Amino acid sequence: MDSPKQQCLFDLPTGTPIQTKIAVRSARSGTFTDNMKLPVHRWYRYSAGFSAEWVEQLIRELSPSAVLDPFAGSGTTLLAAEAAGVLAYGYESHPFVARIATAKNHWNQIEGKLFDAAKELLNIAAQRPSPDMGVIPDLLVKCYMPEVLQQLYALREAYRSCANRFDPEISQLLWLALTAILRSCSFVGTAQWQYVLPNKRKSKPLGVLTAFSQKIADMVADMAVLRNTGCRSDAKVILHDARVIPENVSLNSIDLVVTSPPYPNNYDYADATRLEMTFWAEIRGWGDLQDVVRQFIIRSCSQHATAEKLQLETLLTDSCIEPIREELLNVCNELAEVRQTKGGKKAYHTMIAAYFCDLSKVFRALRPICRLGSTVCFVIGDSAPYGVYVPVDDWLGRLAIAAGFKSFSFEKVRDRNIKWKNRKHRIPLHEGRLWIKG
Ligand SMILES: C[S@@+](CC[C@H](N)C(=O)[O-])C[C@H]1O[C@@H](n2cnc3c(N)ncnc32)[C@H](O)[C@@H]1O
Repeated sequence: MDSPKQQCLFDLPTGTPIQTKIAVRSARSGTFTDNMKLPVHRWYRYSAGFSAEWVEQLIRELSPSAVLDPFAGSGTTLLAAEAAGVLAYGYESHPFVARIATAKNHWNQIEGKLFDAAKELLNIAAQRPSPDMGVIPDLLVKCYMPEVLQQLYALREAYRSCANRFDPEISQLLWLALTAILRSCSFVGTAQWQYVLPNKRKSKPLGVLTAFSQKIADMVADMAVLRNTGCRSDAKVILHDARVIPENVSLNSIDLVVTSPPYPNNYDYADATRLEMTFWAEIRGWGDLQDVVRQFIIRSCSQHATAEKLQLETLLTDSCIEPIREELLNVCNELAEVRQTKGGKKAYHTMIAAYFCDLSKVFRALRPICRLGSTVCFVIGDSAPYGVYVPVDDWLGRLAIAAGFKSFSFEKVRDRNIKWKNRKHRIPLHEGRLWIKG
């Protein structure tokens, strides 16, 4: 394990006031107000889709009585709403990501309890015999030096043995701390918002105890700071599929929806947490992702379409895509043709059709819970799989109208054309805010 010198936060005598501990930590951590390091937001890096400051400003400007983020991810909107003093709900159907958002949502717990629990966890890990490594999944073998993995397993096993000694919220925060250091302790390319890239090397992976200690210190510091601001702490993370009308959000109760849904750009949200889920033995490998995650989320990647063996004809008969059927048919047929000329033969034709069916269902599920006159903002980008342009914002706007919303407009925020890895095309793409009024 790391040398004791690296664990100085936990070396302070028992009884040291928490503020002193925070001061020790802050002196080593640089600025706390950096945009990329906002309290609580920074606990787990995830593709937020928009900045927390922007959402908070929007919420303050519109001062709704309740906000909903139907694709809550790690909870950016929820935290921003709490800061703005507004009740917020967030759906997230990726079970592992929902757990991350839920754990972050416990920032209002007493920070001293987390600190003490982390210290106990480390003591238990240090006292237990070396963990039985068993059969190590390939991905973990590729990502960690054996001694690093042994330390991580030691913490994991210690966590499993003592989690029920603590308040459930504190246990979830410990789980988050351990989950959140997995990438920084790996020597391979594990850019936070990338799939793991085992063939790329990281120059300086963190030591396990250093990373864990720093993460706990950041969390403890943020909890203290936020509690002193007296901001709201009642946002609700709901494990729920946005395509379905929820049971636990009242009809006509939401007057602002702000969200960043998956884009139809082949990003696989299931794969985004493969390393973490493998570490916690929730999956054995890539092959488990369809059953454990993908089946619950919007069909926005070709693996999804392939795994479900989707049929274009069936998808296109779905009444929910009625307003865009002709154009969608043309695009999907073109994609079906182009794929025959490509080595990978990716199923973009069915992925695109399934994506719009899914998003249409999302608008239909949103309509009854949104008040008349509500504002819905989808931060969204268009796409061009195999160089075939898909006018995402226009089609989504029309699907929203068909679901009963009144009008839509698109506000471009930036140009982009870098999403597709093969970059065989030069189709100009953009990203921006689809404003829907209802
Ligand atoms: C761009 S991310 C949103 C990130 C979020 N703004 C944040 O602060 O982290 C889109 C999220 O939608 C989730 N998602 C995909 N399909 C979903 C569905 N049918 N219902 C609810 N959430 C879903 C994904 O798992 C992913 O976390």
